[in-house]
Amino acid sequence: MQNTKPARQPSADNRPPIKTYSENTILTRSREFIKHPGVFILDKSKSYGSSFFLKLPLRHVLCTLDPEVMTHVLVKNQKNYRKSFAYKQLRLALGMGLVTSEGDYWRKQRRMAQPAFYKTQLEELFRGMFEVTENYVADLAKKQGTVIDVSAEMMKITADVVLRTLFSADNTLDQKEMYRQMVGAQEYVVHRINYPFTRFMNYLNGRHRQFLKDRKAFDKTIFGIIRSRQDLAGAPNDLLTMLLSARDADTGEGMTETQLRDEAITIFAAGHETSANALTWTLMLLSKHPAVVQKMRQETDEILQGKTATFRDIPRLQYTKQVIEEGMRLYPPAHAVGREAIAEDEIKGTKIKKDMIVLLSIFSMHRSDLYYENPEKFDPDRFAPERAKARPKNAYLPFGAGPRMCIGNHFAMMEMQLILASLIQKFDFEYVAGQKIEMHPLITLKPKENILLKLMPKA
Ligand code: HEM
Repeated sequence: MQNTKPARQPSADNRPPIKTYSENTILTRSREFIKHPGVFILDKSKSYGSSFFLKLPLRHVLCTLDPEVMTHVLVKNQKNYRKSFAYKQLRLALGMGLVTSEGDYWRKQRRMAQPAFYKTQLEELFRGMFEVTENYVADLAKKQGTVIDVSAEMMKITADVVLRTLFSADNTLDQKEMYRQMVGAQEYVVHRINYPFTRFMNYLNGRHRQFLKDRKAFDKTIFGIIRSRQDLAGAPNDLLTMLLSARDADTGEGMTETQLRDEAITIFAAGHETSANALTWTLMLLSKHPAVVQKMRQETDEILQGKTATFRDIPRLQYTKQVIEEGMRLYPPAHAVGREAIAEDEIKGTKIKKDMIVLLSIFSMHRSDLYYENPEKFDPDRFAPERAKARPKNAYLPFGAGPRMCIGNHFAMMEMQLILASLIQKFDFEYVAGQKIEMHPLITLKPKENILLKLMPKA
């Protein structure tokens, strides 16, 4: 059945005023909201509308799953919206890289970094991805017949890909320790965002000290890599070389060591956990949908004939791409994007006060029956080009929109198509019964517990 029409059409005229949802005591936010803002917003939208105000102790937040509001905030009137409080907290871990910086500074850094993601450069970076993927698949074959922790596996390969394409690094870095430091730092920062009143406690209970220790160790590794590269003759053609040689068009200046650190750590953080989560959730979905796997294999058999995909093969893997897109619809790695109004604004007839937070819930939009028929169903055919075209504009935003849209979107799609096509050609992934699959929305949408799948040779 074609589901090109949204199941419920939101009425464009005579819109009721945006309602306010209030359920919190003086010191705590709504528990449900913290547990999963996306599920909360989707649920409340059924009675409060696709945009509603959430009353928090210190301010009102406009929560929305409406693509029109998202387009207004991210594209049409983006100049009036800065990144929200949550991003400022992220600076603790990521410094002033592309994700967390603002204004002229961000514009300058984005201009310098952008060429590293041009198509010609991506072809260069693909070589590293290809090699990492081939080695990884050969290694994984040794685990056939066993139950694997897919989350950890996908984190490993995407971190390897980013370390190779960013630093030309091989496996010599202590990646496990780097993960621990990154995840620890991320959890700490998310905790500070969710519980701003407990900040003082973190200084007493040692949590802040541990965070600083992890950050220092992580910086030491990154500065070590940058410094070793500055003295290197015949530098490899990777993202770090691109960033090291990038010059500002107006001033001719390059990046300082700290700017390089901030951009490198940002690309490492933004560039591996997102793709790892997308692949993990997609493999979990595939383990429950053998017919989709079969259809993917028809495509890979025809195009790849058992070989690893080359750069030229990637655009031809259309169904594989749709599978990933559908995986990211149901489990968008960047599940929500937050902005703050710089000056008063009006959205669809409602006043937005200066400094108000607008929470764009990509998760809720992707699962809303306003835009997707049977939204909980895993159906990669939704992304067949003619059906995708019939969707309301911007109702699918895994990479955001507007000038702050993900710089690594093509990199990520190419990487995920390569990895998924390679895995599906070699292995069957069997769902392990009895496990409880729950989402854990930190900065990215992770599984709460490890996702376990039995790895079998392809039947
Ligand atoms: C499935 C994978 C990925 C997803 C879902 C994703 C999603 C996003 C989203 C939604 C944003 C915009 C956030 C906002 O507007 O506040 C973003 C920004 C960004 N992403 Fe990605 N991303 C992915 C992979 C990558 C990769 C592979 C890289 C780098 C190699 C990367 C680097 C960045 C950077 C640097 C930014 C900040 C851009 C700016 O503000 O100028 N991402 N990403």
